[in-house]
Amino acid sequence: MSYFTQLLEGGYEAVHLLSDSRTGLRAIVGMHNTRLGPGLGGTRALATYTSEEEAVADALRLARGMTYKAALAGLPHGGGKAVIMLPRGNFDRAKLFESFGRAVESLGGRYITTEDSGTSTDDMEHVRKHTKHVVGLKERSGDPSPVTAYGVARAMEATAKHVFGRPDLKGLRVTVLGVGHVGMYLVKELHERGAKVWVSDINAASVAHAVKEYGATAVDADTLHRMEADVFAPCALGGAINDATLPLLKVKAVCGAANNQLLTMRHGEQLAGRGILYVPDYAANAGGLINVAQEWAGYDREKAYARASNIFDTIDTVLRRAKESSLRPEQVADRMVEEKLAA
Ligand SMILES: NC(=O)c1ccc[n+]([C@@H]2O[C@H](COP(=O)([O-])OP(=O)(O)OC[C@H]3O[C@@H](n4cnc5c(N)ncnc54)[C@H](O)[C@@H]3O)[C@@H](O)[C@H]2O)c1
Repeated sequence: MSYFTQLLEGGYEAVHLLSDSRTGLRAIVGMHNTRLGPGLGGTRALATYTSEEEAVADALRLARGMTYKAALAGLPHGGGKAVIMLPRGNFDRAKLFESFGRAVESLGGRYITTEDSGTSTDDMEHVRKHTKHVVGLKERSGDPSPVTAYGVARAMEATAKHVFGRPDLKGLRVTVLGVGHVGMYLVKELHERGAKVWVSDINAASVAHAVKEYGATAVDADTLHRMEADVFAPCALGGAINDATLPLLKVKAVCGAANNQLLTMRHGEQLAGRGILYVPDYAANAGGLINVAQEWAGYDREKAYARASNIFDTIDTVLRRAKESSLRPEQVADRMVEEKLAA
């Protein structure tokens, strides 16, 4: 599909191809919708893109996701996301990220970057040498994972209100797939709220930590998927709800931190068909974005947590509207964003 067809069909504003022959930089910045404010989204750096088309498609898809996440969270930001096609072989990473900083600066503030898969706070230290349009810096808002996990716990409380009649996680049986940065903090939040937690992760050390520190019970992934529980919290990679896992689930709701939990829209339909409530991932996991947006506004940890706490109200509204209509929660959330963008 031609780039203009992709942009027009997806409602995008721009795609920037940014290069620097001195460092080998090949960066793509996708801009979706900046009606509510400058695009804010991370930079993904990978050596595995097999074509420029694939990298552009990834940047655009991710930028669109940022528009929706920022708008639903009530942030004054739009959708932007960067992808760097890393050079193969040896290259000077510091110089590459410095040149990326110059590229971000050349966009004049329409796009604010931060770290994402394949980039680190160290990379952003190089980016910041040449642009002020960067957040998630070491000595400022720091690791967003605790705020993301707190937001997911608030989303789960709103879910409990709708499914079990009270916004209380005490005694709730929760299965957590993936106890990495966010998953581990979520297990801590759940433990503090008196939930019963089962965990699974390919990293045995993380599982051992969740068991020792937060009294979680370790199970393998297959057992986790088949368990009779109240809420399943996908906190590993995307696509956790797929043809293999969906028929196994015996939970009342899915509410977790991972991005793109539904492998396809059809899986959302099928979850609903099985009577399992799906909490839209981008609504539940907005805490990390809220945290970096707060850094842009002037970092204040209390304000970041207060805003992440409002995820409860957002999910409450989404689930109420879904109940009152024939739409699924993920469709309601999308509509709420589209109404905001059209207003
Ligand atoms: N970090 C944040 O603040 C944030 C914000 C929003 C969304 N997210 C999303 O949440 C998810 C987790 O992010 P993270 O920062 O905790 O990443 P992470 O890499 O720290 O954690 C992922 C964990 O999943 C485990 N894992 C990977 N494959 C697995 C499998 N097949 N089965 C079981 N466990 C598996 C890994 O071992 C790791 O412990 C991602 O989808 C991410 O995009 C994170």
